[in-house]
Amino acid sequence: MDRITLCRDFDIAPVAVGTMNLMEWGLDRQELLNRVNEYLELGLTTFDHADIYGQGECERYFGEMLKLEPALRTRMEIITKGGIVYDSLRRPYFVSESYNLSKEYIIAACEQSLLRLGIDTIDLYLLHRPCPLMDPAETAEALEKLYKDGKVRHVGVSNFLPEQIKALESCLTLPILTNEIKMSVQCMDFLADGTMEDALQRKIPLLAYSPLCGGELHSKNLSKANLATLEVLEEIRLELGAENVDEVMYAWLYRLPVKVVPITGTGKKERVLAAVKALEYSMSREQWYDILRIARSPEVSRKYHGL
Ligand SMILES: NC(=O)c1ccc[n+]([C@@H]2O[C@H](COP(=O)([O-])OP(=O)(O)OC[C@H]3O[C@@H](n4cnc5c(N)ncnc54)[C@H](OP(=O)(O)O)[C@@H]3O)[C@@H](O)[C@H]2O)c1
Repeated sequence: MDRITLCRDFDIAPVAVGTMNLMEWGLDRQELLNRVNEYLELGLTTFDHADIYGQGECERYFGEMLKLEPALRTRMEIITKGGIVYDSLRRPYFVSESYNLSKEYIIAACEQSLLRLGIDTIDLYLLHRPCPLMDPAETAEALEKLYKDGKVRHVGVSNFLPEQIKALESCLTLPILTNEIKMSVQCMDFLADGTMEDALQRKIPLLAYSPLCGGELHSKNLSKANLATLEVLEEIRLELGAENVDEVMYAWLYRLPVKVVPITGTGKKERVLAAVKALEYSMSREQWYDILRIARSPEVSRKYHGL
């Protein structure tokens, strides 16, 4: 598998393993260690975390697994994110709408992630979401300090629009190596909001989260629109000779002109391997457009088709 270069001295696997639902995979620490070893053997060396996953439990559990075989750390890239606030003391529920990219908060969040993961440095640290109260100079200072202190090797963003990246970049000496965004046959905002063009100009890959629409197309009660999408995916699956529609959804992302690294969400190894298998297919322009046509959003229609 060809690796994806983010900068001169940093590359990642073409498929990243997401850990948002790690606590639901039903694996004890030893089983998780075995699974991670299998992934590493397959070249799947990149793991995507965030401090909020399981309210910190996913990072902690992964860190406990690493303690069982510390040498594994050198064979993997750890991505994690900070900036979404959860304040379970002040409020008894998780406040996903609240963000904090202040210097103090980001430094503390990153240090807490390091502690939970039990590691000295994070390979790629991402700001999880843009915050309307972000002072780019202050946020940049936080990232620079984390870098200077050896706590992060590289930095990037997640869910940022091009203008938000530009504002941050204007104050930052470190390069922004990626934008982690929602991308799938059901979430095509990146085609309409300038995100893809921005990545192309910067020559950076996009990390695609929820590449299978969070499993929506596999749910029991499918809407009419989802049934129609599945029908098209199934037709293209037969044409490509793919094993399942998951492979078709990944192949649709790989056909884009920008480099896309999907972050799988599944706890099942064979389902992660669908993302690897799909690297072999080359979807035709017509097949790609068939999916666009059935699943595009009004914004995409307006931008490309004047509808
Ligand atoms: N930066 C951000 O803001 C952000 C936001 C969300 C997520 N993320 C990252 O992206 C990763 C992936 O997100 P996601 O979980 O939404 O990804 P996803 O791959 O789109 O969805 C995963 C879900 O789909 C189900 N699924 C996959 N294949 C299936 C199949 N063939 N049949 C039935 N169900 C199937 C999985 O169930 P099973 O586990 O049972 O297979 C799982 O519930 C996360 O782990 C996290 O690392 C980042």
